[in-house]
Amino acid sequence: MKVLLLGGGGREHALAWKITSSPSCEQLYIAPGNPGTASCGQNIDLNLHDFTSISAFCRASGIDLVVVGPEEPLVLGITDHLRKDPYLTDLIICGPSAEGARLEGSKAYAKSFMAEWDIPTARYGEFNREQEEDAIQFLDTFSPPYVIKADGLAAGKGVLILSTKEEAVAAIRNMFGGEFGPAGHTIVLEEFLDGIEFSVFALTDGQHACILPVAKDYKRIGNGDTGPNTGGMGAVSPVPFVDDILLQKVREKIVEPTVCGLAARQIDYTGFLFFGLIRVNDEPMVIEYNCRMGDPETEVVMPRLQTDFLELMIAMNQKRLDKVEIKSDPRTALTVMLVSGGYPGTYPKGLPIEGASTKSKGETLLFHAGTRLSKNELVTHGGRVLACTAFGANITEARNRSYALIRWLSVRILDWTCNGTIAGQRAYFWRKVGSIRS
Ligand code: AMP
Ligand code: GLY
Repeated sequence: MKVLLLGGGGREHALAWKITSSPSCEQLYIAPGNPGTASCGQNIDLNLHDFTSISAFCRASGIDLVVVGPEEPLVLGITDHLRKDPYLTDLIICGPSAEGARLEGSKAYAKSFMAEWDIPTARYGEFNREQEEDAIQFLDTFSPPYVIKADGLAAGKGVLILSTKEEAVAAIRNMFGGEFGPAGHTIVLEEFLDGIEFSVFALTDGQHACILPVAKDYKRIGNGDTGPNTGGMGAVSPVPFVDDILLQKVREKIVEPTVCGLAARQIDYTGFLFFGLIRVNDEPMVIEYNCRMGDPETEVVMPRLQTDFLELMIAMNQKRLDKVEIKSDPRTALTVMLVSGGYPGTYPKGLPIEGASTKSKGETLLFHAGTRLSKNELVTHGGRVLACTAFGANITEARNRSYALIRWLSVRILDWTCNGTIAGQRAYFWRKVGSIRS
């Protein structure tokens, strides 16, 4: 099978690593990829907004499968574009249509979808710019903290959780005033849910879904789960508190009704569905949908997934995902992100990364997120730079191996922090700040 994978972060390196391990992978192209994905296949310089060039590449290279990593091309309709191409009628696409991707692209759409199909989620109200005073009044139906969300994609920054009504009112006025551009012209106000979050990933063929290994990411930058949110500082799989009973509830109350709802609306959805969930009083509730895999969760989910990826893609295409068996490595996989100093604020780019050969070691895997080659030298090229994944019999062992990988990288450690707790046990996700050599 000839595969084109779109994207260039840590998620895509983990996907590329998994795809290339499949015996039926004849050729893997990654666009644009990164120095890590170059060790799994051939990086191709394609602009992810240029759908015409992407379909031309698929035709010219005889691509059988396109896997779309990030949400943006999906929300902008890449799947619809490829499906319309008369020369690509046999192309398998892992990624929903633009209508399906609205589950992530519009929070108001996602909430109304959940309301229609009775999927457990926080109580909410949706408001547009003409309804600013109604929105402010609606705050009185909640007790603090207040959750305010820009409807559209806002680079992960469009969700605000505010402890006073004054801050909430100011945030509403700012959003309607254009703080997030058109993404904030509609807003969602919702009840604050108090619980512990986890991520469930399903692959759906539009009729059935299979559930991949469950993961949990840690979003905050600072010690003890403090400070601003990042794209994710680390992740772990499996998640000790997600037992079979909870997972069965997720399947019955959330995954199946979502797939049925999509099918009932005749939405073309083949690909990943990512459920951002929270456990409240032993019940799972949906915080958000995403139409793609998570990052850095993919860096632990793919290593644990033992089922052949391309067999899953073929089953998805033949609408028989109900027949596949998802096998997963019983060990714990844990990933630690090394990030640029200053992240999630401003940070320098182009700093050399010493000693980080793209090779993985022992029970560890090194995935590139924000790296680039500059005159044959590996340099930083993003906030999140490298994901250091390790296996272990438990969280502690996996974490220790991840640290050992970090030490082996021989990059200069300028600062360490830890982040988050899991099942009452501290899960330390170390970050490196101020990478790497001045
Ligand atoms: P979202 O982009 O909708 O996933 O929101 C980003 C983060 O905000 C989530 O991962 C949660 O930590 C938090 N969050 C969003 N909605 C709620 C809610 N209703 N109650 C509590 N926390 C929330
Ligand atoms: N780690 C959360 C996300 O990918 O959205």
